[in-house]
Amino acid sequence: MDKKGRAFRRVFRGRHSVVYVSGDKAIKIFKEELSYNFWKEVAFLSYLQPLNFVPKIYSICPDNLSITMKYIDGENLGKLIEKRNVDTEMLIKCLDICRTLDRLMIQKEEMNMPEKHIIFKKSKPYFIDFERGTITPKPANVSQFTAYIMRKLKINFKEIEDLAKNYKSKFDDESYEKLKLNLTRIIEDWTKKSKKQRR
Ligand SMILES: Nc1ncnc2c1ncn2[C@@H]1O[C@H](COP(=O)(O)OP(=O)(O)OP(=O)(O)O)[C@@H](O)[C@H]1O
Ligand SMILES: [Mg+2]
Repeated sequence: MDKKGRAFRRVFRGRHSVVYVSGDKAIKIFKEELSYNFWKEVAFLSYLQPLNFVPKIYSICPDNLSITMKYIDGENLGKLIEKRNVDTEMLIKCLDICRTLDRLMIQKEEMNMPEKHIIFKKSKPYFIDFERGTITPKPANVSQFTAYIMRKLKINFKEIEDLAKNYKSKFDDESYEKLKLNLTRIIEDWTKKSKKQRR
């Protein structure tokens, strides 16, 4: 019970689960027909625990398809961009996590609409919701996230598109660093303009 006598602090209803927040824990309970999604999320979250960009897992319960994890008490990427409350470093941290996932051959899926699935706590991003993840030799996390940033920030540079294509085909550190450097410059300009508009 919280101070107001409620059993849960918050309840989120996703398409595949209901997430209850109790204290500092989020309990994600999958719909009963989605046991495969449950096991995939358990597998990916467990594997990624040491990398510190997914919520810490406390326990899992296969009987009711629930995962109890750390509740990331922050704000999601969509809202932060809407409020123009993100800086370059925050977005580039997300891009680096996408690169890590690419290198690990984990296709998170939905990285072209990650609004609700990246939560920031004190400028540190956490990636949630891995139930649709797959293992593939060439994941598209970086390219999807780049496309999302371009769309969301309403920036339209052929150069970035070309660098993203180049990265997609080569998939090496050099082409990633080139893409990152150029994207950093462009986001930097966007954040400067945003600051002026907020004044
Ligand atoms: N560990 C967490 N910390 C903070 N919030 C969380 C956490 N896990 C889930 N949530 C909240 O619950 C919502 C639903 O979670 P999640 O996306 O994992 O469920 P889903 O059923 O897979 O939903 P979706 O329909 O978005 O695929 C998230 O958008 C987020 O707001
Ligand atoms: Mg989901």
